[in-house]
Amino acid sequence: MKRIAVLTRDCAGINAAIRAVVRTADKHGIDVLGVLKGYDGLIDNKLVPLGRRSVSGIINLGGTILKTARSQRFFTEEGQKKAVETLTKNKVDGLVVIGGNGSLSAAHILATKHNIPVVGVPATIDNDLNGVEYAIGFDTAVNVALDALDKIRDTATSLERIFVVEVMGRDCGYIALKVALAGGCEEVLIPEKDFSVERMCEEIKRGSELGKNSWIVVVAEGKAKAHDVAREVTEVTGLETRVAVLGHIQRGGRPTVTDRVLAAFLGSYAVEVLKDGLTDVCVSLKDERLFTLPLEEVIQPKKIDVESYYRLIKVLA
Ligand code: F6P
Repeated sequence: MKRIAVLTRDCAGINAAIRAVVRTADKHGIDVLGVLKGYDGLIDNKLVPLGRRSVSGIINLGGTILKTARSQRFFTEEGQKKAVETLTKNKVDGLVVIGGNGSLSAAHILATKHNIPVVGVPATIDNDLNGVEYAIGFDTAVNVALDALDKIRDTATSLERIFVVEVMGRDCGYIALKVALAGGCEEVLIPEKDFSVERMCEEIKRGSELGKNSWIVVVAEGKAKAHDVAREVTEVTGLETRVAVLGHIQRGGRPTVTDRVLAAFLGSYAVEVLKDGLTDVCVSLKDERLFTLPLEEVIQPKKIDVESYYRLIKVLA
């Protein structure tokens, strides 16, 4: 293996992973090309050489130095043809894809339909990759959200108010569950579970009669809009509500120790397995053990033990 390419999505820790890929490849005498703007850059032949020095000083930076995009074009025959042409033209022997479900689904297509050696590195704040305990970016995202929530709690407690806090997670409520439990919140609404606002309002009313007037409700964006939930709570209970939508602040920022360490191990291991001839796999780390999983398995919906979180949140609230 003489030359590989690396392509990414964006979230905290991805730059640390790029650094690990480039420097591990360098150790083996393998050249690295960075793909600019994700799969769109692969289609448009936007590749830049990356050496040891080009990844200096990026370990602490959020986002991706390679820039990225949500490519619709890759999911067309024409887009895939051009992407493969770019790899052939640039004599790329293998590709490392660092990203979440969308990026790894495209990687699986490249490996299976087009015979390109591809290894995936899990990186998504949603942490929704099946079989992968933790993806790069998740730890930073939940810590950013928790920091915001702790600040909101100060006001919720001081003014005895009800806050509805919206966190990211279109199809997966993992961020919401973790943050609600860690933040000592009363309620959490996620896409994976049916929810009755009426039941919650009844609980709030009962609590209010007993003197409990401060509530924090965490909502995953894919379940409901925080403003709609807050409006309904006010209509039914007559109590004042406030809303905070955390949005993209959760995806950026300085990566935590956990994300940087994960990025170092996974980025480096991805190069090792690609060099050893593995393809159509995703690298993962659990209990300090590195291993690979088939990409096909990783892109299936992740099963979370939602009930254990719910039970504990309710007991501790
Ligand atoms: O998949 C990561 C994620 O941040 C989701 O939590 C969120 O729904 C989505 O991306 C937002 O995507 P975009 O930045 O393209 O609006």
